[in-house]
Amino acid sequence: MGFLAGCAVVPGATAAPLATTVAHMSVSAARGGPEADSLPSFLVPDLEAVLQTNEHSRIFARHFEVPSTPEITRAQEELVHEQIEAFKTANVTDVAPGQHQVAELNLHSQLTAVSTDVIGIRVSTYESALAGGSTRYLTQWFDRRGSAVRGSRGLFGSHDDWAQFKEYVLQAATTDPRVFGGGLPDLDDSWLDSVNFDFQGNARVEFDDHQVGANPEEPIVVEVAAQHVAGLLSDFGILASAASTAPSPRVQLGMLQEAGTSSPLAGYSAQPSATVSEKDQENNRNPPGQSPRRAVDCTIAKCVALTFDDGPGPKTGKLLDTLKDGDALSTFFVTGPNAKLRPEILARMAAEGHEIGNHSWNHRSLTSMSSAQIRSEIDRTNAVITAAVDQPASLLRPPYGSHNSISDRLTSTPVILWDVDTLDWKHRDTEKVIDTAVSQTSPGSIVLMHDIRSSTVAAVPRILSGLRTKGYTFVTVSELMGSVNLEAGESYSHGPRP
Ligand code: NI
Repeated sequence: MGFLAGCAVVPGATAAPLATTVAHMSVSAARGGPEADSLPSFLVPDLEAVLQTNEHSRIFARHFEVPSTPEITRAQEELVHEQIEAFKTANVTDVAPGQHQVAELNLHSQLTAVSTDVIGIRVSTYESALAGGSTRYLTQWFDRRGSAVRGSRGLFGSHDDWAQFKEYVLQAATTDPRVFGGGLPDLDDSWLDSVNFDFQGNARVEFDDHQVGANPEEPIVVEVAAQHVAGLLSDFGILASAASTAPSPRVQLGMLQEAGTSSPLAGYSAQPSATVSEKDQENNRNPPGQSPRRAVDCTIAKCVALTFDDGPGPKTGKLLDTLKDGDALSTFFVTGPNAKLRPEILARMAAEGHEIGNHSWNHRSLTSMSSAQIRSEIDRTNAVITAAVDQPASLLRPPYGSHNSISDRLTSTPVILWDVDTLDWKHRDTEKVIDTAVSQTSPGSIVLMHDIRSSTVAAVPRILSGLRTKGYTFVTVSELMGSVNLEAGESYSHGPRP
């Protein structure tokens, strides 16, 4: 790359168009993080998001399964399994119930490219220990023609093409002020394990935190311009680039951007969810078409608030059927990505009178984040909720119930915890969920469950009948708290005890 050395960035200079462009692209790479260019999941019709969680060990992993392309499911499962096992080995994860460890593992998969030939999935893994946290990135490329999983190297042609690409990356990284002073001596192939293409076909290399530079709030992403990358790609790389710039089924770029901020449910008329904490309202809470529901005074009646976290998931629709049959209202604390995947379920929750709360975007512990990150976690999720039901969440449940004075100050809604923990994420046993919910509930209880677990959804009919026999009414959290003057940033773990 001697011919690049010392080239000044002079627009129009005849000898140095290459260096100019590469350097320019690296500067523009500062905008947005790797998440900025992820594609909506509905582009892969049979894609399913799967959660693996451990509330006590603070493990939260969201990966993809695609039944029509089994090698994706297999590769994603393998990767998540490896990461979780490595985390468990490096940290003491055997903590007593009710205790939390400080370390945290938070993994998310995102679509970066879709066509009939290629699917690209980026996996972002945040891991923290006592000393602090960092995020690493890996992109898996799936060749749907031959059922193969490829790494970054498979995107490029000959050995020389790959070497040339690395030279471009090195050159661009060296001009990035965030990269370690003095530039980089060389690039290890393993550092280039997350290469993607943006909508213009520019290649984006996403570096792990602390890998090539001191880490500011945003990850370091280096871009190499499309015109330089094009000649270096393998046949598969050309398909991968096309699947990124023009994802199929052919969707206009404008539609993709719109899909991120508004509900794709044109014509679906969602009723706004019940207004919160209005003690004085009478029978105006009922969506049209439903029988009038009397306002409940939980200082007199035996009330319980069933709450469901981490969804919506594949079984949430079934759960809504059960709640409707049992004339029961509940509260759903949703995460941003799952709400974005199923906006029609949120609309149904609101239309049927349930309450929707915010459970953050990434499900990371808020206490290990900067103020800007906490705000982003809450605001991004609220934007998705608002797009689906025309109003933001009325409540916040912080992931792991973990909050402190800093996160409380940044919260514009009440913080809702619980007094009955079914531990359903742990045992995944329908009988145990029923037994705990029915035997431990007392008047005013807030019960913690997870609607992403089918064992929990299966338990709800008998939880309803069991508690109804004991005289309970099933209310939303705001109904339960009707007599309490709820304050933003204050935390509550149960309602008034009659
Ligand atoms: Ni949760």
